[in-house]
Amino acid sequence: MPTIVVTGTQWGDEGKGKVVDYLAQKADTVVRYQGGSNAGHTVVVAGEEYKLRLLPSGVIHKNTVNVIANGVVVDPEVMIQEMDALIARGIDVSGIRLSNRAHVVLPYHRMLDGLSDEARGSGKIGTTKRGIGPCYMDKARRIGIRVCDLIDTDEFRKRLKENLELKNKELSLYGAEPLDYEKVLAEYEAYAERLRPHVVDTIALLNREIAANKKILFEGAQATMLDIDYGTYPYVTASHPVSGGVPVGAGVAPRKIDKVIGIVKAYCTRVGEGPFPTEQLNEIGDKLREAGHEFGTVTGRPRRTGWLDAPVVRYAGELSGLDYMAITRLDILDGFDEIKMCVDYKYKGEILKEIPASLKVLAEVEPVYETFEGWKTDISGIRSYEDLPANAKKYLERMAEVVGVPVGIVSVGPNRDETIIIASDLF
Ligand code: IMP
Repeated sequence: MPTIVVTGTQWGDEGKGKVVDYLAQKADTVVRYQGGSNAGHTVVVAGEEYKLRLLPSGVIHKNTVNVIANGVVVDPEVMIQEMDALIARGIDVSGIRLSNRAHVVLPYHRMLDGLSDEARGSGKIGTTKRGIGPCYMDKARRIGIRVCDLIDTDEFRKRLKENLELKNKELSLYGAEPLDYEKVLAEYEAYAERLRPHVVDTIALLNREIAANKKILFEGAQATMLDIDYGTYPYVTASHPVSGGVPVGAGVAPRKIDKVIGIVKAYCTRVGEGPFPTEQLNEIGDKLREAGHEFGTVTGRPRRTGWLDAPVVRYAGELSGLDYMAITRLDILDGFDEIKMCVDYKYKGEILKEIPASLKVLAEVEPVYETFEGWKTDISGIRSYEDLPANAKKYLERMAEVVGVPVGIVSVGPNRDETIIIASDLF
C-alpha cells in the first residue's frame, strides 16, 4: 500500500513543492487534499522554475495523474490560468482530475476575504486574500457551490442567484459595490465548460488506485502551525494541513495511509500575523531572509525569519505521526558562523511540555536555544549523508533527537537533483 503524505511542520513555505516533486518522479498519482490557491509551491526542474498555487506539484511529470480532491477550495480562474501557463511551456495537463465535491471560490469570496480582514484592523490575520476562508465558511454554512453544481447549468444559475442576493448584502456592509449576476454567470459558465472534462469522482478514483497498489502521494499545502485546529488560532488558514486532513479531504481511510513525511525547513519563517517565538528581528533575521530569498510566492511579502523551533516540529511529529523529517534549505545556513536551535520553551521559569493553546502564553514563551558551530562551506554539491560536513550532521542529528523523528531526506538546493535520500523505504 504505497501511499505517502507530505505535510508541512512549521508555518508553511518549508519547500514542500521540491520534496513532492522529487517523490512524484516515482508516483502514479499526486493529490492536493486541502487549501486552495493560497498555497505557493515552487518547483525547479532542469533549471526551469514552476510556481504553482493550486495544481498538484506532480503536474510537471509526464504520465502522472494529478488530483484536486474534495477538501480543496478551487478558484476556477486560477486553475485555468495555471493550466494555460503550463500548456504554453509544453506540459500536458490532460491528467488533471478535479473532484466533483470540491467547493468553488467565487468573486465574492475573494472580495470578502480582503474586506473582512482589513476590517479587523490591528487584529488582522494577514490572509492571502484568495477567498479561501470565506469559501470554507460557506461550506460550513451549507451554502457553498461545489464543482458538481458549477458544471450543472440550471443548478448553477439558481445557486448563484440565491448566493448573490445574500453576498451583495454582505458586501454592502463593507461599502463595496454589488456584483452583477449576469457578468459572474457568464464568466463562470465559461470556466465550467473548460473544466468539465477534468471533473470526476476523485474518491472513487483514489480508492480504485489504492486497491490496484498504485503509488499515491498526498501533497499538503500550508502547514501544521496554520492548521485551523492545531495552529496558532486565529492566525491560521481555514483547513487541515496535518496528515489527518487526508482522510477527510480526499476520502481515503486513515488505515490506507502508509507513510507520513514532515517537511522541516532548516530554519523558520512565517508570513502574516501571529506569534513566532524564535523570530529574529535583527541582522540574523535579515541574513536568513536574504540568503533564503524569503519572499512570499503568492503575495511577494517579505517573510518573517528565525531559528528552527524544534518544539513546533515535535508537535507536528506527534499530530501527523511522522515517519521521517525531510530537511529543506540546509544550504541556506552555509554562510553562518553560528546556528541556533530552540529545543524547548520556558514560561515563567518552567520548561513547557506542550505547545500552549493560548496565544498570550505563546507570545511570552522564552525559547531555550542550543548553539551549533556553522560548517561554512557550500554543501549544494553533496549527494550523500556521509559527505555532509561534520557540523551539519551534528545539527541534523540533534534535531532528530529533540523532535523524536529520524531524518529521511535532506535538500541542499532548489534543483531536483540537489537532494540526499537517507530513507530506503519511500516508494
Ligand atoms: P489564508 O489561508 O489566505 O486564509 O491566510 C491565513 C494565514 O495563512 C495567513 O497568515 C497566510 O499568510 C497564511 N498562509 C496561507 N497559505 C500559506 C502558504 O502557502 N504559506 C505560508 N503561509 C500561508
